[in-house]
Amino acid sequence: MKILVLGHKGMLGADLAAILGRVHDVTGKDIEDFDIVSVSDCRRVVEESGANTVINATGYTDVDGCETDETGCFAVNAEGVKNMALICKRTGIKLIHFSTDYVFDGTKIVPYVEDDICGPVNVYGRSKLKGEEYLRKLSDNYLLLRTSWLYGKHGRNFVGAILEKAKGGGDLEVVDDQRGSPTYTADLAAAVRVLLEGDHRGVFHMTNRGSCSWYQFALKILEYKGIQDVRITPIKSAQLGARASRPGYSVLSCRKFADATHRTMRFWQVALQDYMSGT
Ligand SMILES: NC(=O)c1ccc[n+]([C@@H]2O[C@H](COP(=O)([O-])OP(=O)(O)OC[C@H]3O[C@@H](n4cnc5c(N)ncnc54)[C@H](OP(=O)(O)O)[C@@H]3O)[C@@H](O)[C@H]2O)c1
Repeated sequence: MKILVLGHKGMLGADLAAILGRVHDVTGKDIEDFDIVSVSDCRRVVEESGANTVINATGYTDVDGCETDETGCFAVNAEGVKNMALICKRTGIKLIHFSTDYVFDGTKIVPYVEDDICGPVNVYGRSKLKGEEYLRKLSDNYLLLRTSWLYGKHGRNFVGAILEKAKGGGDLEVVDDQRGSPTYTADLAAAVRVLLEGDHRGVFHMTNRGSCSWYQFALKILEYKGIQDVRITPIKSAQLGARASRPGYSVLSCRKFADATHRTMRFWQVALQDYMSGT
């Protein structure tokens, strides 16, 4: 396959480019090569690549930053997807795009399935939902992959932030009233490869298995790093006072992916331990 990875220097894009690049002809483009908000830029990079598959791993991913830059956030996460969907549709190219658990409102108590009603509680989630809507409306050859709580080797993430704070000494306070599924970008990239090579289409939820709160995630990070002299206190989201609200429960059911591919992703603890053995 000839694949164009957009955002190949980002956390997920870098792993996608590396893992797919082992077996496919992969080109990568990022912010210094093109702006996904520009129709002419999008057309140029797609035409130059000669790709038959485009993977969009770009994004305005600063969830709190989106609250004060709604225009910029919607431009990248919604209008950018519209641009790519139109160009790919016109040229018969398959488009793979990533969305988020934050399209849901967090009021469920069992994992969200692909057809559940969306109700984002922050600007980032609303912009990603708008991107989803454009993709579904304008394309008939797409994979829309919702994932959550990403960490990986090529970007700033929660694992790195906890280790950094722990190194600085002192106690940590971590939110305990949001539940989700931490997901290792290398595992996600490998699972995307399975869907791609199986020529699947449509919407899929894809995360590592199991779930936890950010507090429980932080405890495991310190445990796997062998750090014992740092105390972590669980706090409520309201005490943290982040600019953006977040869903209290955003666990995604990955049953559809398992049924379609006969594969499951690893439990989040196993993936985290594997990732941390290399940090
Ligand atoms: N991170 C998560 O926890 C998470 C969870 C669920 C879903 N997702 C989705 O998964 C995808 C990948 O996330 P990620 O965390 O890997 O993102 P990331 O590390 O922030 O990488 C995104 C890449 O896109 C580039 N980019 C930003 N604006 C652009 C523009 N206008 N034109 C072209 N490139 C642009 C970024 O450049 P700069 O770095 O210079 O901005 C960066 O290289 C996104 O769609 C995100 O919404 C992420």
